[in-house]
Amino acid sequence: MNANEKKQQLLDRLKPYGQEHVLRFWDQLSDEGRQRLARQIEQLDLAQLDAILRCEQVSEDWAALAQRACGPPAFRLDREDERISRQQARQRGEQELRTGCLGVVIVAGGQGTRLGFDAPKGLFPIGPVSEASLFQILVEKVVALGRRYGVRVPLYVMTSPATHRATVDFFADHDCFGLPGESVRIFSQGTMPAVDARTHRLLLAEKDSLALSPDGHGGLVAALVRSGALEDMQRRGLKHLFYMQVDNPLVEVGEPTFLGYHILSGSELSTQVKAKTDPEEKVGNVVSVDGHVRIIEYSDLPAEAACRCDARGELELWAGNIAVHLFDVDFLNRVADDPESLPFHLARKKVPYLDEQGRRVEPSEPNAIKFERFIFDLLPMAQQAIVVEVDPRRVFAPLKNAPGSGQWSPETVRQQMIELHTEWLREAGATVDPGVAVEISPLFALDAEQLRERIPAKLRVCQPMYFAEVTGRGKPNV
Ligand code: UTP
Repeated sequence: MNANEKKQQLLDRLKPYGQEHVLRFWDQLSDEGRQRLARQIEQLDLAQLDAILRCEQVSEDWAALAQRACGPPAFRLDREDERISRQQARQRGEQELRTGCLGVVIVAGGQGTRLGFDAPKGLFPIGPVSEASLFQILVEKVVALGRRYGVRVPLYVMTSPATHRATVDFFADHDCFGLPGESVRIFSQGTMPAVDARTHRLLLAEKDSLALSPDGHGGLVAALVRSGALEDMQRRGLKHLFYMQVDNPLVEVGEPTFLGYHILSGSELSTQVKAKTDPEEKVGNVVSVDGHVRIIEYSDLPAEAACRCDARGELELWAGNIAVHLFDVDFLNRVADDPESLPFHLARKKVPYLDEQGRRVEPSEPNAIKFERFIFDLLPMAQQAIVVEVDPRRVFAPLKNAPGSGQWSPETVRQQMIELHTEWLREAGATVDPGVAVEISPLFALDAEQLRERIPAKLRVCQPMYFAEVTGRGKPNV
């Protein structure tokens, strides 16, 4: 097919939806540029896009929903559950871990715009002493988990077209941080185009490229199917998938108590939550509505509902999502059969684009609509979904914002890591001089208990110290 015939074929696709303008620069493009643009257009589901935009006006009645919402089925930190004790949960989780049927997924396809780092976020050197990357810390936790329970823990990493190559190269350059190559699978999620917020016309990022962005962490389900990762999980006999985001170096990967509660409750999808300290805190609210667990974003939660208290005088909608989940693999398979199970959310964002003359425009105000799927929209479909409360000081420090910008910036995340590891050292009997930075590699110890077995008695730390893999019992490799 020559270039003109190809153009005509593409026009026939675009015309019914009024999107022919994306071929405006076709005649100026190289063969390679034409192929690239044609490929992008052919991958678009224009009918779906049209349908999503038509539904834009029909938004959820959040006030009515919040009115009916109550706290989700939960295991709280400050009270023992009558049916399942913390100890029972821990034992059940450990038993399951020893059977090797847990896999781990890191979602790392986001663009990390707030952080403003020019490589994928997983490469960011967050270690306060070691400058280890987020990926190194997270993968070492997977390695350490496998060692502790004497099993192989397969790791799945979701990237996006923007982060894929650099992520694959980074893992290869670092020998997968100690995981055997056959235990690691890196696959890319899909993309969605951005459209002009006023006209709903597709935006061009380049003369030969649409403005595309990853389709949200909810793109995981489709990407697991498309990449064969879901099949791989079944082949390996995995029953559960531990889900984490790439930005939280404090996450407790495969934590047994969480897994135990999940199994003993018969839950298909469990979520770690933090108790909100402020009714209008900027976290997703995990709630129960009409018997289904779901999330109401803070921006959608009316103040009256946010402030509502129960008989104890505590916030009724208290559970804040920290984006750590456990999925049953059978559940993922079930929802994967219905590709439409996750809706698209529309967000108004600033998206640079080419104007009619081909000049690049950097908007100062949101000019475009982007489309994303959210993984937590699976919650209402899960049987017996539960939440497990955690102490955010110890397990939650997501790197979101640029250096020097306050909460969830590299400085505050590093500080929280230092504080936690100082606490572990003190719990393990060491003395740490005030103001001294310490960092513990997951391969050295996963918690204070393990640390106690590894450090010399009466250790005093008076200068910055990185506790790395043990080279000899009792000798930190500093
Ligand atoms: P965030 O919502 O914090 O987005 O993603 P982000 O891309 O990291 O940062 P901003 O908003 O552009 O500043 C939470 C997690 O979900 C992943 C991210 O990589 C991160 O681990 N994610 C997000 C995806 O894997 N794909 C997406 O399309 C979006």
